[in-house]
Amino acid sequence: MNATATARDLGDDFYAPLKARGPEIEARYRGLTPASAELHDRAERLLPGGYTRDSIIRKPYAPYIARGEGATLVDRDGRRITDMWFNATSLPLGHADGRVVAAVNAQLKLGSSYFAPSESEIDMAGVICERLRSAERVRFANSGSEAVMFALRFARAFTGRDVVVKFEGSYHGSYDDVYWSISPPPDRFGAPDQPTAVPDSAGLTGSAGRVLVLPYNDTDALERTVRRHGGEIAAILVEPLANRMGLIAPKPGFLERMRELCDARGMVLIFDEVIAFRLGFNGAQGLLGVRPDLTTLGKIIGGGFPVGAVAGRADILALSEPRRPGRVTHAGTFNANPITMAAGKATMDALTEDVLAALNAGGERIRSSLGELCRGLPLQITGAGSLFKISATPHEITDYRTAATADREWQEIASLALLNEGFLLPPSLHGCLATATTDDHVERFLAAFASLLGR
Ligand SMILES: Cc1ncc(COP(=O)(O)O)c(C=O)c1O
Repeated sequence: MNATATARDLGDDFYAPLKARGPEIEARYRGLTPASAELHDRAERLLPGGYTRDSIIRKPYAPYIARGEGATLVDRDGRRITDMWFNATSLPLGHADGRVVAAVNAQLKLGSSYFAPSESEIDMAGVICERLRSAERVRFANSGSEAVMFALRFARAFTGRDVVVKFEGSYHGSYDDVYWSISPPPDRFGAPDQPTAVPDSAGLTGSAGRVLVLPYNDTDALERTVRRHGGEIAAILVEPLANRMGLIAPKPGFLERMRELCDARGMVLIFDEVIAFRLGFNGAQGLLGVRPDLTTLGKIIGGGFPVGAVAGRADILALSEPRRPGRVTHAGTFNANPITMAAGKATMDALTEDVLAALNAGGERIRSSLGELCRGLPLQITGAGSLFKISATPHEITDYRTAATADREWQEIASLALLNEGFLLPPSLHGCLATATTDDHVERFLAAFASLLGR
């Protein structure tokens, strides 16, 4: 297919009616959420545009949440909303899970952070090293973004090289060196096999000599780039499930070849499993059978609290050992704070192999039901494990450029219409399940989505 084709080529007749209802759907939302509107007005006077976190921005304003319990959120207007995104996949047990609350409460009474280590970080590191076969050592941080930043620092120090390869359409958090070509517009794409590195923010100082952007799932482009620049490349940073592109999987052989090329040219292979770790007891890498040198983690390992981690080869992470000359430094007032460690450990302990398998089976069921609902429509259902994504495009999604054919306006309006019916998904229509999600939640969500499709 022509990757720059827009959804309009095939789907206009389908997308137009819902888009035409946009003003009516927005008016209904405003009518349902006067308290959130008022809070948003107040926020706008103190926070730029009313927000302090880009990913939760939505038109006309986000719902303000008063509390969450299990799979249910209650907003400041007292509406009960079924959560279908669980703070961007970070709460696999749902909100205020009793085991996590108990672990955090127990730790809170003992203090929340110290200028010294606590046993809890050893316990949590043990959990990660037990589950991730590639993890021999771990360093904790406070976000997935920080984990990525430090992983790149380790890779550059280990190899003595500067350039990092990332893939077009991949989001790895807000560190400057990975804030390139996350969602570039078609007129700035560049060649399909050699995408232009497009900044996703003002204020970035330049990618030259630091970042190379490649198309996801294109092994030939990867081989050519490594042949040309291998000696300058410190690391290849890749998501084993490409989240922003639509939770799409690597094609068979793509990661395997990447592993071989990294071995041949001395490049560090970094898997970003900030989201993908939840796919299996041994992470996405356990399912795929490819062993990275470093893995970045976040989200679920914090049990709902801020967290990040770099896990991987002992010889690479040894660069941060205290007495090593020219070491990699890595500070952080709240690194491995005992509250996060306690919440993370309680969460990971609850996510046994059986529990994860049941969660993933639920994901399989919801994707298959959504697939049935969307049969014959210009909508794609993608995802893996307990994650799903609805994309408004008639095209199969395999990389950023096919993902970019989606009609984002349709998705955004569908998301607001679902919020009116009491379901929270981001405007991109990503979704996930938690163990707190029941069959009833799923059935009601499917019914709301069917009604939105007029089915
Ligand atoms: C794959 C991936 N990497 C890194 C990050 C950044 O994590 P954080 O938001 O904790 O900084 C995210 C966040 O969504 C992510 O999806």
